[in-house]
Amino acid sequence: MLTGGGDCPGLNAVMRAVVRKGERVYGDQLVGIRDGWRGAIEDNLGPVSVESFRGTLPRGGTILGSSRTNPYKQEGGVDAVKHTLSERGIDALVAIGGEDTLGVASKLAAEGVQVVGVPKTIDNDLSATELTFGFDTAVQVCVDAIDRLHTTAESHDRVMVVEVMGRHAGHIATWAAIAGGATMLLIPEIPFDIDEVCSVIQRRHERGRWASIVVVAEGAKPAEGTLALVSGEVDAFGHVRLGGIGDALAKAIEERTGYETRAIVLGHVQRGGTPTAFDRVLATRFGIAAIDAVHDNAWGTMVALRAGDIVRVPLDEATGELKLVDPNVYEVASVFFG
Ligand code: F6P
Repeated sequence: MLTGGGDCPGLNAVMRAVVRKGERVYGDQLVGIRDGWRGAIEDNLGPVSVESFRGTLPRGGTILGSSRTNPYKQEGGVDAVKHTLSERGIDALVAIGGEDTLGVASKLAAEGVQVVGVPKTIDNDLSATELTFGFDTAVQVCVDAIDRLHTTAESHDRVMVVEVMGRHAGHIATWAAIAGGATMLLIPEIPFDIDEVCSVIQRRHERGRWASIVVVAEGAKPAEGTLALVSGEVDAFGHVRLGGIGDALAKAIEERTGYETRAIVLGHVQRGGTPTAFDRVLATRFGIAAIDAVHDNAWGTMVALRAGDIVRVPLDEATGELKLVDPNVYEVASVFFG
C-alpha cells in the first residue's frame, strides 16, 4: 500500500481496512510503502499488520507519510518502482491517492504492474466516483469556521472573505456556502465579475443586513485576467502553488464598497484532524473493496461510490476527466446570494 498526494482525513481508515481483511480473511502479508511513490522509487518500505493500525481510525493524515513525487518525472523512476516491487516480492499494489497518484497507477497498470486504486481527495473532483473520502470532513471544517465568522461579521459590520481549497473545482466551496449560509460563492467553474460581487454585497448592506460572508475557492478566477496570487512554485505534477485570491478579493471589495473586509484563509486546516463518521465509513468501505479487488485480480481498476454502492471502474476512466460542480447545486447556493 502507499498513500500519495496531499494528506486527507480517512487515509488511515482505508489502510486499516485493507490490512484487516487482507491479514485476517485472506491471510496476506502486507507492506507499507513510505511517502507515496518516493518510497517505491527509493525502496523505503516495511511490513505492516493489524497491530500497526491500532488506534488509527480517528487519526488524520497518513501513518505511512505522503509525497507528490512522480516516478514518470524522474530519470529512471519507473524502472526503480518496478525493481522495488519485484525485488521485494510484492505482487499487488494498493495505491491510495488523487488524480496524480492514480494517474501514475493507471500508467503502471498499462505496463503490467498489478495495481488497484482508491480515490482520495478532499476536493471531491474525481469524475468516476460520486464522493471521495475526506471531502465531508473538509466541508465540516469550513462550515464550523463560517459559523464562527458569522458572529464576528455581525458584531463588527464586516465582510468576511473565506478562502477554501479547490484548485479546479469548487465542491468544497459550494457545499460550505450552502451549509454555512454564505452571501456569495466564487468557484473556478464560473469566472466572476468583481463589480457584480460588490453590488450584491452593497444591496445586502443597503437593506440593513451588513454582515456578509463570501466563500471563495482558491482556484476561482475573475472574468478577465486573474486575481489569484501564485507563488510560481510548481510541484512534480506541474501544479502551481495557489493561495492569495482571498486577500486580493478582500482588498478589492473594501476598495470598491468602502465596507471593512477581512480575509480568512482556511488552508491546510481543512485537511487536518479526525475524519467525520461519514468519511470513516466511506474510507473503510473503499479499503475492504480494494483488498477484494486485489483477490479478484481486478488490476487497473479503482474502487468508486456510485448510487450508494462500491463498484470498480477502470483507473484511466477515474483519472481522465475532472468532476466539476453540478450547475444545479450551484443554483441552490445562488438563491441565497445577497
Ligand atoms: O488536492 C488537494 C489540495 O488540498 C488542493 O485543494 C490544494 O490546492 C492542494 O491540495 C494544496 O496542497 P499542498 O499545499 O499541500 O501541496
